Amino acid sequence: MHFSNKIAIVTGAGQGIGEGYAKGLAQLGASVVVADINDTQGRRVAHEIEQAGGRALFIKVDVSSEASAQALAEATLAKFGGIDYLVNNAAMFGKLDFNPLMTVDLAYLNKLISVNMLGAVVMTRAVAPHMQPGAAIVNQSSTAAWMNIDYYSITKLALNGITCVLARELGPKGIRVNAIAPGPTDTQALRDKVPQPYIDAMVVQMPLARLGTPDDLCKPLAFLLSDDAGWVTGLIMNVDGGQLMRA
Ligand SMILES: NC(=O)c1ccc[n+]([C@@H]2O[C@H](COP(=O)([O-])OP(=O)(O)OC[C@H]3O[C@@H](n4cnc5c(N)ncnc54)[C@H](O)[C@@H]3O)[C@@H](O)[C@H]2O)c1
Repeated sequence: MHFSNKIAIVTGAGQGIGEGYAKGLAQLGASVVVADINDTQGRRVAHEIEQAGGRALFIKVDVSSEASAQALAEATLAKFGGIDYLVNNAAMFGKLDFNPLMTVDLAYLNKLISVNMLGAVVMTRAVAPHMQPGAAIVNQSSTAAWMNIDYYSITKLALNGITCVLARELGPKGIRVNAIAPGPTDTQALRDKVPQPYIDAMVVQMPLARLGTPDDLCKPLAFLLSDDAGWVTGLIMNVDGGQLMRA
């Protein structure tokens, strides 16, 4: 799969899985917009892609802000002249506050919803009008979506619904919208969020008994973005070592 004439925006690309996505797409030849709220990390990733011979541009974005998302789309068009792929990966994940739904501060819950759930809508509204038929969007869900464990999992379940609704709305324009639902993936954020004994207990129950890596997720991402998946839309694809099987 070669994306040499493709332009991809990856949100939350300053670290973790998003960093892996941005670097992986750049290795496949794409020009990549490293979009993140964190300047230092985003600049580092874009710089490392360029050092490795790829094409990248860091653009600061807050995916929960319409103005910020619009500015990102415009800056991408100004630099690269088009947008083929959008990967809505950004989320509040590591270092989350975990309070019961009964007591969580509502302002905090609204912030989480505006980033994890509506961020993909805000970004898609800013970017999709500039896409041509053949373009593709992938949202980053989670196996947590089906586990009903906390308000983070609720935002990912809603993101699955958003993925399907956007697939219906954008399909007639020739834009496909899918999601990847990763299982536990070895990033600093996971390690900040989940204590080691819980990680061990999760992993031992998974058929492929190990944590995923950003690289495990990047090839399925490339497939979903590519023309090889030209008749695939509205799919929530588990990439999770068998953690959660849906018959
Ligand atoms: N690591 C896992 O086990 C796992 C499993 C399933 C799903 N996920 C999902 O994968 C994605 C990445 O996870 P990760 O482990 O790399 O987490 P991470 O916290 O390392 O990365 C998230 C990135 O999003 C950025 N971000 C946060 N809020 C933002 C905003 N408002 N605007 C723009 N950028 C913002 C952060 O700065 C960070 O770079 C998230 O959507 C997460 O929910 C992770």
